[in-house]
Amino acid sequence: MCGIFGITLEKRKPVGKLLTDALKHLEYRGYDSVGIAVTDGKKSFLRKGVGFVSDVALEKRFEELDGIAGIGHTRWATHGEVKEENAHPHQGCRDVLFVVHNGILENYLELRDFLIKRNHVFRSETDSEVIVHLVEEFGANEEGLKKVLSLLEGTYAFVVLTKDGTLLCARKGSPLVVGKFEEGVVVASDPIPILPYTKKILRLGEGEYCIAKGRKLLYRGSQQPKTVSWSERSAELGSFNHFMEKEIEEQPLVLKNLLAWLRDDSPDRILHGRIHLIGAGTSYHAALYGEYLLRKAGYDARAFIASEYTYWKGEDPDIVIAVSQSGETTDVLEALKDYEGEIIAITNNPLSSLASLSERVFLLNAGPELGVAATKTYTAQLTVLYYLTTGRIPENLPSLVYESLIRNKEAVKGVVEVLKDRSSVYYLGRGLNVVTAKEGALKIKEIAYIHAEAYPAGESKHGPIALVENGFPVVFVMPKDETYKDSLSNLEEMLARGAKGIVVGNEPPEQPVMFLSIPYTKDPRLNPIISVLPLQLLAYKLSVARGYNPDRPRNLAKSVTVK
Ligand code: AGP
Repeated sequence: MCGIFGITLEKRKPVGKLLTDALKHLEYRGYDSVGIAVTDGKKSFLRKGVGFVSDVALEKRFEELDGIAGIGHTRWATHGEVKEENAHPHQGCRDVLFVVHNGILENYLELRDFLIKRNHVFRSETDSEVIVHLVEEFGANEEGLKKVLSLLEGTYAFVVLTKDGTLLCARKGSPLVVGKFEEGVVVASDPIPILPYTKKILRLGEGEYCIAKGRKLLYRGSQQPKTVSWSERSAELGSFNHFMEKEIEEQPLVLKNLLAWLRDDSPDRILHGRIHLIGAGTSYHAALYGEYLLRKAGYDARAFIASEYTYWKGEDPDIVIAVSQSGETTDVLEALKDYEGEIIAITNNPLSSLASLSERVFLLNAGPELGVAATKTYTAQLTVLYYLTTGRIPENLPSLVYESLIRNKEAVKGVVEVLKDRSSVYYLGRGLNVVTAKEGALKIKEIAYIHAEAYPAGESKHGPIALVENGFPVVFVMPKDETYKDSLSNLEEMLARGAKGIVVGNEPPEQPVMFLSIPYTKDPRLNPIISVLPLQLLAYKLSVARGYNPDRPRNLAKSVTVK
């Protein structure tokens, strides 16, 4: 959640512009409000507002601010409603200290009382504001920072800016990464806004801090910088209208690159004993796919929704496969908190918390995914799970995915017209296709705001079918695999009740339905990687047709770092 960026420079520069550019790259982490604080060493400036980065930056003239240091923040509200006072940065009692924070401080009410008794005046309802007052109270230096850290309970990644251009940075629970470049130091909640400055990025360890001024960086922690292979251009929109569109289209290439990485790997004997897979949202769907493949291959495997894991897991397994594109999802990290066995991570973020606590990390190498709705990281996750289970490199997969993309770019438009004004839709499939149905339904909910429910097709007649009346849309995921015949019967049942059938499959059935064609594969385990493409395209185009911005779905953030 929330995006943080900070910069210190040796010489005066257009810091307002640098912060605005960085915040645009962080907007996918939260976009209900935005703000910056800049100092030129003598005077400080605070500007913030409710809305998207580009709008607020224009209105509040972020780019006119020059200076030697600054901090910025994009917010996804946790404590305090969405209004200007609650937007970050927060300032102390005087305009000499400012803070941006990501996380949740559990003891902030206590700390606030303590500070109010010490005559501090609060301007916002946020938990974050206590940090800047504490620094004011105990000193904007290393000793003061250490004292403040000893008082904070909960999770945080924060950066405090002082008027003389120093950044005091610390993290616990929430990520914070730092990079040094020729003219200064940059710090951020993820590597993406750092890439234009350097690819050598250090992730602060749990509970660690650093202090930056000009080009100097004081860091007494245990971590070493790592080189991130993503190109800075991969975070640019280019000629696409939205990141989601770009990321859908990137999939054949992403998978081609991923297969090249996997070819150099050796999955032999990694898996053994009892295996649990965990994930949230789309990554949970990937976990389900993994469960299916592993069970078919004879493993004792089970997938869990990460936030439910501790309630349902029973005895600890031998291995947990944790699936998370960001590697920072709190539900996933919490699920692993007391687990002492082996962890295999499947993540897109080499600098993530998940990567750092796992014995074995499978990187998706998908480049930054900025669309809030996961697309390319999902197909990459499935591909890694396929490889982990079978040990096979599916050489023809990128071309099958490309074919699926090409066939459906135009074809989904007809279905968009049908769904555009509907308020509800079912997604059905059997076996492995249930996973795709679930993922398709989640995408529609997230970005097109249409109520969508996924069911195993056979289960639909045990209740859900009661809602079906004339014109009710039902999407069937039914490639020619072992489920085909039975799915066909379920399709008949739906059509007999007036449903509008939409079939994703290898060949159009005889029944009067709308058809989205996907290429045939001899290995049905690859079907979910191929058949999700039309459903991603459908959700994307539906969102645009309904007048929404698919990259900024309401109430959502890319990486969910709260319980
Ligand atoms: C996917 O479209 C969603 N934005 C969401 O469900 C996401 O998959 C979930 O929050 C998990 O994120 P992670 O993969 O970073 O752990």
